[in-house]
Amino acid sequence: MCSMKICVVGTGYVGLVSAACFSEIGHDVVGVDIDEKKVEMLKQGGCPIYEPGLPELLAKNIEAGKITFTTNLDEGIHECELIMAAVGTPVGQGRRADLSQVESVCRTIGQHTNDERILVIKSTVPVGTSKKCQIWVEEEMEKRGVNHHVHLVSNPEFLREGKAIKDFMEPDRIVVGFRDEKAGTAMRELYKPLIDQGSNYLEMNVESSELTKYASNSFLATKISFVNFMAQLCEECGANVERVAEGMGTDSRIGAQFLNAGIGYGGSCFPKDVQALIKTSDALGVDSQLLRDVETINERQRESFVRKIEKSVGNVRGKSFGVWGLAFKPDTDDMRSAPSIDIINMLLDKGVSKIKAYDPVAIEVAKRSLPEVVEFTENEKDAAAGADVLLILTEWSHWQEWSPEQIASVLSGKHVIDGRNVFDPEEMREAGLEYISVGRM
Ligand SMILES: NC(=O)c1ccc[n+]([C@@H]2O[C@H](COP(=O)([O-])OP(=O)(O)OC[C@H]3O[C@@H](n4cnc5c(N)ncnc54)[C@H](O)[C@@H]3O)[C@@H](O)[C@H]2O)c1
Repeated sequence: MCSMKICVVGTGYVGLVSAACFSEIGHDVVGVDIDEKKVEMLKQGGCPIYEPGLPELLAKNIEAGKITFTTNLDEGIHECELIMAAVGTPVGQGRRADLSQVESVCRTIGQHTNDERILVIKSTVPVGTSKKCQIWVEEEMEKRGVNHHVHLVSNPEFLREGKAIKDFMEPDRIVVGFRDEKAGTAMRELYKPLIDQGSNYLEMNVESSELTKYASNSFLATKISFVNFMAQLCEECGANVERVAEGMGTDSRIGAQFLNAGIGYGGSCFPKDVQALIKTSDALGVDSQLLRDVETINERQRESFVRKIEKSVGNVRGKSFGVWGLAFKPDTDDMRSAPSIDIINMLLDKGVSKIKAYDPVAIEVAKRSLPEVVEFTENEKDAAAGADVLLILTEWSHWQEWSPEQIASVLSGKHVIDGRNVFDPEEMREAGLEYISVGRM
């Protein structure tokens, strides 16, 4: 097998998983991050994020000498023929994607490269960014009076946190956009082990590749907002959104995934990517009303959940709440744009006296995202114990180990407001609970 020497810049959720997986499929990988603490932890054999299977994969490949970590990007630039940028692209000014981390990587490459390089943009970036990357690299080289060819590639990532290793190793598709054959050949070599195992490898131009990532995330966000819109209708007319979603999703043209009604999408990708695509559409003069509606429905879903709580509980002032689940979805510790943040803040604004919260893995991260008054417990039982109201904000499978009778026995009050439709409404009511969920009577 042909092994490449590659440098992955940014060792966050995407970069670290990609670096570990590229080393696992045979490449020699240098992982670079400006976060000294993170790099130190990685060098000591630790894993800075929660991702099932990742600590084991890192340990194996560090031990085999296939992956190393540094804070010094120059090292990676000099040693590696292919450099992959997997740095963050958060929402920036005017709700545009903030490309400063990507620009910084490109400029550093322009300042230090002494040879031809392949530069792969794995970060999610608006269409047209690769052209800007080329300019940033060339501007820096011009200052040094050199002109090495840096071949730009767009290679967006589609992995899901919580299932990231499997998604990387057995992807639905690998999307690669490039302009010249040298880049195309390098990318086929990079992904050869996955291409040989039959992965769907899609080559296209750079603009199509950049747009594919936003199209995919915006479409999935649209599915979620669509089913949440249906949930609102269900609540008004006595239908059950789960049956409606099943009836829709079994149509192979529609598909069952992403049709779970709830408190809306969150996380590090959907909210920012929908916003960025709206901005791109505006800049290109294309009407983006569809995406604006997707966003509005998503934001209202959190507000309508709080209204539901008030309708069921009455005035929340002075009441105590238990919260099960804080991460934006199960199997991750990612709290970025998690609906729990908005909902807990709205309740505190309304005078809730006490919030005790539990999440199986996100508590340490949640401590940085939630107000200090929130008390974190060691298990779900302690969060619910003695509370007037129990809220379910993330659908961790743990909750299903609880029977409605057990929940009723630990709560002080009777109210369970379930934003993720984890429990059966009839069984909950039979246990004497005042149970409210989303789109179901
Ligand atoms: N998280 C996901 O599930 C996911 C999935 C697909 C795509 N993406 C996209 O991948 C990109 C990365 O996302 P993430 O969730 O991994 O972000 P992250 O914030 O977890 O990681 C980014 C890392 O880059 C590092 N960094 C920033 N500037 C740097 C620099 N100049 N040099 C070296 N390191 C630098 C940061 O310290 C951080 O560790 C984003 O564009 C995101 O939209 C994310």
